Amino acid sequence: MKTVLVTGGTGFIGSHTVISLIENDFDVIIADNLINSKKEVINRLHTITGKQIKFYNVDCCDKEALSLVFKENDIDSIIHFAGLKAVGESVSKPLEYYSNNINSMLTVLELMREFNVKKLVFSSSATVYGQSEDVPFTEQSPLGMCTNPYGWTKWMIEQILKDVAHADPSLSIVLLRYFNPVGAHESGLIGEDPQGIPNNLFPYISKVAVGTLECLTVFGDDYDTPDGTCLRDYIHVCDLAEGHVKALNYIDTHKSGVEVFNLGTGKGTSVKEAIAAFEKACGHSINHVFGPRRAGDLPVCYASTDKAREVLGFEAKRDINDMCSSCWNWQQKNPNGLSD
Ligand code: NAD
Ligand code: UFG
Repeated sequence: MKTVLVTGGTGFIGSHTVISLIENDFDVIIADNLINSKKEVINRLHTITGKQIKFYNVDCCDKEALSLVFKENDIDSIIHFAGLKAVGESVSKPLEYYSNNINSMLTVLELMREFNVKKLVFSSSATVYGQSEDVPFTEQSPLGMCTNPYGWTKWMIEQILKDVAHADPSLSIVLLRYFNPVGAHESGLIGEDPQGIPNNLFPYISKVAVGTLECLTVFGDDYDTPDGTCLRDYIHVCDLAEGHVKALNYIDTHKSGVEVFNLGTGKGTSVKEAIAAFEKACGHSINHVFGPRRAGDLPVCYASTDKAREVLGFEAKRDINDMCSSCWNWQQKNPNGLSD
């Protein structure tokens, strides 16, 4: 059984990926400092998978502490999810974002070199495509012109990984550019659990639906789109999780170097359509008003999925209704999120 180190494995995408890895016979170790997740996730993962997962409460920027994880385990590959991800917060705390996201990646890379680990999957984002309006985004679309420090950390780390792989041809690295991950595991035991008032659409809608928040503000209905609201490529987090298994399998069989894949559905859904789908899932209306545009929002953002389909054999299976119903199931079962 091959051992995968999942950094950030108690977080939203990491925890769902851990389930897919276990279902595909990988042995999983989680390293997370719980800065944006709860230890209770480990218990939930145990309930879902029946496996006791080895967990290290460790900051991936702390080389000495993280090296213990490498010493104590025979790590075959790494999926590096650990990082800070709130776009708005990155604007007010750029140093924290550059420091945490870049140093955690550099520390993992140094330890990979010291412990001879050759395979890495990195969580990148469609945000690296910047402000281009030329959709769909293919892996060849121009990069940069990010609108916030968070986006630049992803862009910089992608460059670091290309340079490191160029210097060491024995490395094999996959960059996965996620579009908009939403939804939750069908059990309703794990899901997206943001601290405070959510910035993203789905967690916000869920909290209005469950009654924790009063009203959703739709940021702009005067875009040049079919219904005036922005289109996004929402992808079910369980599909996304399966994409990581495909990426690891690909790394096992392909040559060295860096390969990039979009993970999305290839379909744009408007804010109005997302609200309507959620209303159908929860069975009542979602209180919302229309407000001004949010700075930095692209009117339309969706993925070209050709490369992921042709090379990885990846295709998202779940639709917007599955995303809404799983999100609602999780929200209803855990109206206040998880606590430790
Ligand atoms: P998340 O915040 O739920 O998970 C990230 C996890 O990393 C958290 O559990 C947090 O505690 C941990 N962490 C952060 N810094 C750490 C450090 N220095 N050491 C150890 N652990 C640390 O976020 P997520 O939505 O699951 O995102 C996972 C990854 O995917 C992130 O890198 C994020 O930037 C990227 N991504 C997310 C989205 C999205 O919309 N959710 C989109 C594109 C890319
Ligand atoms: N929206 C609202 N009201 C809200 C929140 C969001 O109308 O309260 C709208 C936004 O204006 C946008 C759409 O819903 O049109 C989606 O917004 P999100 O904040 O959910 O997602 P974004 O597309 O802005 O950003 C997400 C991640 C980023 C990532 C980006 C590209 O949050 O980290 O996708 O992958 F960089």
